Amino acid sequence: MTSAVVIGTQWGDEGKGKIVDLLTEKADVVVRFQGGANAGHTLVVGGETYALHLVPSGILRPEKMTVIASGVVVDPEALIGEIEALRARGVRVSPDNLKVSDKAHLIFPYHKALDGARERPLPGMGPEGTLKIGTTGRGIGPAYEDKASRKGLRMADLLHPESLREKLGQALMEKNALFTHLYGLEPVSLDAMVALGQEWGQKLAPFIRDSWKIIQDSLARGLRILFEGAQGTQLDIDHGTYPYVTSSSTVSGGASTGAGVAPALLGKITGLVKAYSTRVGEGPFPTELLGAEGERLREVGHEYGATTGRPRRCGWLDCVVARAAAALSGLTWAAVTKLDVLAGFSEIKMAVAYRLDGEELLYPPSDIRDLARVEPVYRSFPGFAEDISGARALADLPRNCRVYLEALEEAVGVPLGLVSVGPERDETIVLGEFF
Ligand code: GDP
Ligand code: IMO
Ligand code: MG
Repeated sequence: MTSAVVIGTQWGDEGKGKIVDLLTEKADVVVRFQGGANAGHTLVVGGETYALHLVPSGILRPEKMTVIASGVVVDPEALIGEIEALRARGVRVSPDNLKVSDKAHLIFPYHKALDGARERPLPGMGPEGTLKIGTTGRGIGPAYEDKASRKGLRMADLLHPESLREKLGQALMEKNALFTHLYGLEPVSLDAMVALGQEWGQKLAPFIRDSWKIIQDSLARGLRILFEGAQGTQLDIDHGTYPYVTSSSTVSGGASTGAGVAPALLGKITGLVKAYSTRVGEGPFPTELLGAEGERLREVGHEYGATTGRPRRCGWLDCVVARAAAALSGLTWAAVTKLDVLAGFSEIKMAVAYRLDGEELLYPPSDIRDLARVEPVYRSFPGFAEDISGARALADLPRNCRVYLEALEEAVGVPLGLVSVGPERDETIVLGEFF
């Protein structure tokens, strides 16, 4: 098989950027298939840190091709900014090594304004009228809504300035009614949006391509494709902690629909399992640690959002959630990340089940009202004190650390494919072949 998929099994920020960058060594093409600039994927190479939002995490290797596929929602302003920032640091980004799907939907400033407005109380109303999700404010929900309700504009529309005004006019009619009548915002100027669209078109035209055919051609030529997931399984629109989720399919199936590749061609599927849990934004989080242990995970693990800088909520590893991800995405194996962050805890815990109304659950309940009531069933492990960032084989890890990994493997129900022991590309124990 010449494809492989990397997805997050938790609430995002599992270390997908690092692992995709590492695995890109063996890949030819790296594809983002869903989400948008809500993602923040961090790569650390030779002491240099790069935070990517839309550009796939293969970009640091100039000979590889990267693709932003049709399932992604693209904020051209963010994309142009990211391309310029990468180029300013000497990273090659050109239409040769970055392709953006002509079918990918666009995020305009009015999507971001709507995203922000929905997170605030309506003018003259109390906070109880608002469902605050704690979004990244990047316009993701409103853009996917427009896509689903068939009011969206796509990258290809930037190549047709003659119809841009008409399409934007149709989109803005409803948006401006909402802005002025409900949210107390200034109406959006059609002229300004048309000008913006034209400017984006001029800058991005060389990158806009029929990405799904490029991916199909690459597969036909035997090239190796790495699909880079964004967010995590518990943020999936269908399978996550709805409504505290993002608006796309973060499971492995999203790679198939978002990139335009048949499910049977996806190859090995790697689920990233951070050695503890984090969550940004609102929503239930059964293993959350609100005291000193959570604080410690946040500080040692530098758990602050790569996109918004928000402190991430932290807690013990939740194997119930990871077990569900293994089933939902058909994981070949798990890649455990940030194991080094657990060094120094005298006791480490992992949830292996939930208890709800006297019953033991092996998978999360569907309804967040139930999820908010579950009690994690913990297994407790003695900690390890050693700095493990130099480990390059399982045998280099302290015994207590290996015991924890074996328990994780057993609880999640898939083998280990990789263990990450530091943010740098080479701070990794690789246990198998990914292609
Ligand atoms: P992503 O969204 O899944 O790509 O993850 P983020 O980049 O948002 O967050 C992961 C953070 O952990 C980044 O700062 C990474 O540099 C860092 N990181 C990744 N793997 C490891 C690891 O094994 N150990 C440590 N200490 N940090 C890691
Ligand atoms: P990466 O790819 C962590 C969260 C937001 C919020 C919810 C909805 O870096 O793992 P959205 O802006 O998507 O409408 O927000 O989803 N969220 C993420 N949390 N990592 C991410 O991406 C996230 N992308 C969105 O915090 O709770
Ligand atoms: Mg992130």
